[in-house]
Amino acid sequence: MTAPSPPSPAPYGAAAADVHAARKPMTLHRLRALRDAGEKIAMLTAYDAASARLLDDCGVDCLLVGDSLGMVMQGHASTLPVTLEHMAYHTACVARGNRSAWLIADLPFGSYQRGVEQAVDSSVALMQAGAQMVKLEGGGWTVPLVRALVERGIPVCAHLGLTPQSVHALGGYRIQGREAHAADTLRQQAAELGAAGAAMLVLELVPSALAADITAAFPGITIGIGAGARTHGQVLVLHDMLDITTGPKPRFVRNFMQGAASVAAAVSTYVQAVKTGAFPDESIHGYSA
Ligand code: KIV
Repeated sequence: MTAPSPPSPAPYGAAAADVHAARKPMTLHRLRALRDAGEKIAMLTAYDAASARLLDDCGVDCLLVGDSLGMVMQGHASTLPVTLEHMAYHTACVARGNRSAWLIADLPFGSYQRGVEQAVDSSVALMQAGAQMVKLEGGGWTVPLVRALVERGIPVCAHLGLTPQSVHALGGYRIQGREAHAADTLRQQAAELGAAGAAMLVLELVPSALAADITAAFPGITIGIGAGARTHGQVLVLHDMLDITTGPKPRFVRNFMQGAASVAAAVSTYVQAVKTGAFPDESIHGYSA
């Protein structure tokens, strides 16, 4: 009788070379093809070269240099203190470590609020640091910015729902779009951003049914975080899913280090869980007390 084969090791280190060899650089075209084929898109945040290389080698489709780095790297209580210089620095670090994942960088608070010209200048800085797409938060007033960036050849990811740069205006990290009028506003904003050319949309902390509605109508790719399982893909903050975040922990986050032999194994499990639909749990939203 033959012994059962051991579980496949995470594709990192020597094995990763083979995975990488088979991995073509991700493009917007390929991301759309994944969406059209019904394959879920796995995204994680990354802030440095070593983790970018590890995530890329483990099959993460998109890396987000999130301004969450203000909290997990810099120890601030919010993303508000993060500057464009910080974002450009971390984007360049991630770009040096990454080989094939699609690389998105956040426009930080204060780097686009003054209008189109500032948004273009800030986006140019991030694209020159190695980003392939920029992300900005909010709807309505951001529509002309999105249109201007797209017209200038800069791919844009919009971000609706819980938008952390507006944490004080929103009254904390709480679910958005629960009431009918708030849900209608988010649907309308998503439609306008899609029409303006946003190729991707992050939906954070919104009810699953609303995320599903927006996903059905949005012309681009939707990525959820605390927004149920019916978006085209998922994103988590790396430090949250590795359970090394201090402070309040979102309830929708799963600790992928639990039972994992290594960080690479945890990341590979996350990718598989997103691809198979085992993550996220459709019913979990919100931050734990
Ligand atoms: O900054 C960030 O990490 C983000 C994700 C939470 C989507 O915007």
